[in-house]
Amino acid sequence: MKIKVSRKEHFNAAHRLYNPAWSDEENARIFGKCSNPNYHGHNYELVVSVTGTPDPQTGYVFDMKVLSDLVRDYVTKKFDHKNLNLDTKYFKTLNPTAENIAVVIWKILREKIDSSLDLKITLYETERNYVEYPAP
Ligand code: NI
Repeated sequence: MKIKVSRKEHFNAAHRLYNPAWSDEENARIFGKCSNPNYHGHNYELVVSVTGTPDPQTGYVFDMKVLSDLVRDYVTKKFDHKNLNLDTKYFKTLNPTAENIAVVIWKILREKIDSSLDLKITLYETERNYVEYPAP
């Protein structure tokens, strides 16, 4: 019997979507407002889900206090109130789209969570736009 447990967190961050191989005009055409040269912010909602079999001793799939500490220490502390392009090491050459942010978060947390458990990241960039990694 597998169960999915999830922790929801929030962070605010600025970004700029930009492909250096393209002109400013092309970037503006492809990325629209998200390519504003002076950056702009989003209120990101992050859901980290862990799927596995509950431990017979505890009844837990994963200790939610531990999950909340992992997300805070390794993700939201690094990203909250930061400029993702300039203030983090992850997006120096990687475009900080919601897709790429979700993959980065997955890679960070995957190392911290036992490989017997499945890990999934759901990231809302706006109330209406969200990505899931890995895809269902
Ligand atoms: Ni944006």
